[in-house]
Parts: sequence; structure tokens; C-alpha cells
Amino acid sequence: MKEKLKSMLTEKRYIHSLGVADAAARLAGRYGVDLEQAYTAGLVHDAAKNLPLEEALEACSRLGVQPDEFELKNPALIHAALGAEYITEQFGITDREIKNAVRYHTTGRAGMSMLERIVYLADMIEANRSFDGVIQLRTLSEIDIDAACITAANMAIRRIIEKNQLIHPNTLYARNDLLLKRAKQKQNEN
Ligand SMILES: [Fe+2]
Ligand SMILES: [Fe+2]
Repeated sequence: MKEKLKSMLTEKRYIHSLGVADAAARLAGRYGVDLEQAYTAGLVHDAAKNLPLEEALEACSRLGVQPDEFELKNPALIHAALGAEYITEQFGITDREIKNAVRYHTTGRAGMSMLERIVYLADMIEANRSFDGVIQLRTLSEIDIDAACITAANMAIRRIIEKNQLIHPNTLYARNDLLLKRAKQKQNEN
């Protein structure tokens, strides 16, 4: 699988993918998710990332993936929805949870599974990433995965606003859902 993936990606993207697989497996150990499932999801999460746009759109119609209007306006997002089907075609991966983790790794969504949260975060905190706050985000992700996801979503939203790009609604749904969940947990504790 690694050899094939390597041939599909740029070197930089392949190294990033190995980093995400490692980070995902580490978080899986921390949060009680199957290590191999998390490693595999991390490894293939960007499998469709380096397809030229024309090929990506072709693959979308071949695999029955319909990019939404936000993905069409920001084609960098297409690789996630496409990736979920592309990994089935290219690697025979049919595990629904892995497919959803790939599908929502960029935007997140409301009601993310633990594996989805793990891959979402691993994508941001893997060892090759460097941005302001990455070290704190790594630490937080070991302590409280939901708080880390909220911080990650806040960072992503700020970055999107700075670039004056569209915010995918799923990113807002993901953040609101996690904030509401935490508010309810706090209420129950009192
Ligand atoms: Fe990605
Ligand atoms: Fe990635």
C-alpha cells in the first residue's frame, strides 16, 4: 500500500501522510481506537490530493462523488470527498469508518466519530507541521481531544477568514457541535 501511495503523491505529501498515520496511531492508543485502523486512515487520507483538477473531477464522476458548491468554489477541498471513494477503488478499503475519516478530514462535521476527530487532528499536528500554536495543539490533543478539535477549527476558520475564502458549513457545524457537547458536559457535572 505504501509503495502505491508513494507513486500517487508528491514526496512532500507522502512524508506528510506518514506523519499523519503516526500521529493518528498515537492518538488512537490514547483514545481507545484500533491502531491499525487509525494508521491506515491517516496514511491514505490525502490519497486524492495530488490529482490534477481535471483528473479529480473525472474521478468524481467515475466514482459517483458530487462535490458540493463550496468544494467546487475551493477545489482544494475536493480531495476529501473524492478520497473516501478513491481509496476503495485504489486500495480496496471498504471500512466505513476509515472512509468517513478521509471524507471529513478537512472540514470536519457535526457528530464526528472518535476516528474522524483523530484523523482531523492528526492532519494538523503531525511531526512535519509547523505553525504558531502547533506545539500547544499537540499537547492539548493528548489531554482533551474535543478541546483540541475546537482549537483546530478556530485556527482553520481564522485562516480562511484571513484569506477571505468561503467557510465550508461543515467546519461551523463541527465547531458548534463540539462546543454544545462540552457545554452539556459541564452542565451535567454541576
Ligand atoms: Fe487533506
Ligand atoms: Fe493532509
